[in-house]
Amino acid sequence: MFICSSCSATSAKWTGKCPTCGEWNTFVESTVQKWKSKVWNGKIVETRALDPNPSQKGIERYVSSSGELDAVLGGGLSAGSLVLLSGEPGIGKSTLALQMSEWYASRNQNVLYISGEEHIGQISARAIRLGVSHPNISLLTDSEFDSIFATVERSNANIIIIDSLSVLSSSSIEWSPGSISQIRIMTEMCMHIAKKMQKSIILIGHVTKDGSIGWPKSLEHLVDVVLFLEWVRTENYRILRALKNRFGPTDSVGLFRMEENGLIDLPNPGLEFIDQESSVLSGSALTFTIEGNRPILIEIEALTTYTKFWYPKRSARGIHQGKLDLLIAVMSKFTGVDLESHDVYLNIARGIQVSEPGVDLACIAAISSSKKEKPLGKTIYLGEVSLTGVVKNVLFLERRLMEANKLGFVHAVIPASYEGKIPKWMECTRIKNIKELK
Ligand SMILES: Nc1ncnc2c1ncn2[C@@H]1O[C@H](COP(=O)(O)OP(=O)(O)O)[C@@H](O)[C@H]1O
Ligand SMILES: [Mg+2]
Repeated sequence: MFICSSCSATSAKWTGKCPTCGEWNTFVESTVQKWKSKVWNGKIVETRALDPNPSQKGIERYVSSSGELDAVLGGGLSAGSLVLLSGEPGIGKSTLALQMSEWYASRNQNVLYISGEEHIGQISARAIRLGVSHPNISLLTDSEFDSIFATVERSNANIIIIDSLSVLSSSSIEWSPGSISQIRIMTEMCMHIAKKMQKSIILIGHVTKDGSIGWPKSLEHLVDVVLFLEWVRTENYRILRALKNRFGPTDSVGLFRMEENGLIDLPNPGLEFIDQESSVLSGSALTFTIEGNRPILIEIEALTTYTKFWYPKRSARGIHQGKLDLLIAVMSKFTGVDLESHDVYLNIARGIQVSEPGVDLACIAAISSSKKEKPLGKTIYLGEVSLTGVVKNVLFLERRLMEANKLGFVHAVIPASYEGKIPKWMECTRIKNIKELK
């Protein structure tokens, strides 16, 4: 068998270029023995039934001083778990990692922060900027895995952060340093130590800028939890998602704002994403979209102007262009709003991207408001609009209404078919068709 020394792909024939990882001259011949002996000598092992009364104690969890982080992890970091935190370069992984050290240290945990990417001066400067200074934090700057492994085994820290996996190398593992195969073995070693010593280990991995998830993808099955940090486009907001979690749900997201002194929790993201003064202006409609399982208040802005050209221009930012064309077509068929000789611009404020249909009604309301020059005030619009002009129910409508209520909104326009709960103090106008939109 020939085995690629870079990615450990196998081939029966020698080839110059590895078809899996694209590296040249990496195939090495090796002897692979399928069966150690000709005799099958397995032992019969006792099987058991499911435990009808499993212990309620469950897994020990470390709670941090960031509610957003704890929520993403499903209620805290599980003791003895291996977590992979990945994201694009520059997104703020090292920032988050250093802040996590402080967040856990201030809750009486001992944290070991290992950096192979930056020297002590750089880390200290960042720590000062972020206000990270807890005595329970120890630092190690090294990229040689064998000494890291030995230090971790002897350390009294129960939370270990390694920034980052891609710069680690080991002289005792076969395969070339930095190769996927080596990284995979180091990840397995981390899992081993996490389980054996009940230490929680957080590994940081990079994802390339072009959006393709490089080797962190191939490590996902080796770890307990995969966290992914991403931008909310242009603004200084970050979303932390759990793509995989053996100890909790994967639909919760954490929201943060990046500031000079690091990532700040956004427990009530709603009011961050809208302009308080917009409700008096025409062309602005408020709605809630769902991010993970969280309702987020967003503002849809529309502008309609008399067209100077042969055909009217339609331009969308934050929602799909095709969606805007479709909504305009539905509007001209079922409402009295005539847009035939008007350019229409639609934008979701703060550079947020929405691909779910729950905001359709709000888009139509915003366009109609701009055309009629009639402000909509603080009304929330929730509903999907079908090609027949019917306003349809949307996913998590009740949750969106509850959140609206929590943030102090008292009026909403919703689909007539909604049968769920209406929060106290909330007045809802139910409509069947966009014709009824005032
Ligand atoms: N002085 C600063 N003020 C505000 N934000 C900063 C400052 N320095 C760095 N940042 C933020 O930190 C990000 C870089 O974070 P870092 O943790 O180094 O990313 P990563 O480890 O993912 O490559 C920058 O994109 C910027 O948003
Ligand atoms: Mg970094």
